[in-house]
Amino acid sequence: MAFDSKKMFSVEGKKCIVTGGAQGLSRGMAEGLLENGAEVVLMDLQAEKLDAVVKEYQEMGYKAYGVAGDLSKKPEIDRMFDEAMKLLGGSLDVMVPAAGIQRRYEPWEFPEDMWRLVIEVNLNHVWFMCQKAIQVMRDKETIGKIINIASMSSYFGGTTVPAYTAAKGAVAQLTKSIASDCADHSICCNAIAPGYMDTEMCANMTQARKDECTARIPAARWGTPDDLKGPLLFLASSASDYLNGAVIPVDGGYLVK
Ligand SMILES: NC(=O)c1ccc[n+]([C@@H]2O[C@H](COP(=O)([O-])OP(=O)(O)OC[C@H]3O[C@@H](n4cnc5c(N)ncnc54)[C@H](O)[C@@H]3O)[C@@H](O)[C@H]2O)c1
Repeated sequence: MAFDSKKMFSVEGKKCIVTGGAQGLSRGMAEGLLENGAEVVLMDLQAEKLDAVVKEYQEMGYKAYGVAGDLSKKPEIDRMFDEAMKLLGGSLDVMVPAAGIQRRYEPWEFPEDMWRLVIEVNLNHVWFMCQKAIQVMRDKETIGKIINIASMSSYFGGTTVPAYTAAKGAVAQLTKSIASDCADHSICCNAIAPGYMDTEMCANMTQARKDECTARIPAARWGTPDDLKGPLLFLASSASDYLNGAVIPVDGGYLVK
């Protein structure tokens, strides 16, 4: 049968959750889904900002909803997921647990509370959202898509970011573990590993460190939230139904230089 690319790459009508959607890469990915006819619940800690973003999308005619709360806390994750499922009418096609934080300290002075917070947001919330998505998506007719957000720190050690690096390494491995167990239960779990992306997360890097990174990027520029839309839409659509457990760098070639 001929490959109908319009149909295979479509996300029209898909029900999605994107965490961290008030800004940055999560917002860009949510926007890509909305622009292409999906229904999206955006979740974020920044209630006011989230409200404004969702309102803007609703005024554009998109099916966007917001659920505010703190994803570093399990009871909040439970509440937020339940609220999202109500908004989506009880079904879920795409889960993108993309919220994340960065804390930078030398390893000899990394504060314990910061270590725990980074692990809660960058690893534990990802796992709990994956598990909840699996419970809803399992053994359905349409293949459910879980798209985790890894990082260059899934490959490299970086400097002054031990908690972030530990969490992102774990997210890459978690993606493979879920793919192994869920591929024959109608679920694909893949990850995007963004390179250096121009968002608030990197705003406090020193200019010297930023220049050092830019010099190593073959594309000669930092990525933007728009750069993730294409890979995300591919992973969310039926075109990637036989792609499972992959960690895909979207990094302007950084990793291969
Ligand atoms: N910017 C980069 O260079 C880069 C590179 C690789 C991976 N990533 C990853 O991409 C994802 C998005 O990062 P970004 O660069 O857009 O960062 P960002 O700081 O611009 O956005 C992160 C969003 O997550 C939300 N968030 C943080 N803690 C939360 C919590 N406890 N509960 C609910 N929401 C919370 C924030 O409010 C914010 O809106 C993260 O997982 C990050 O690790 C970013």
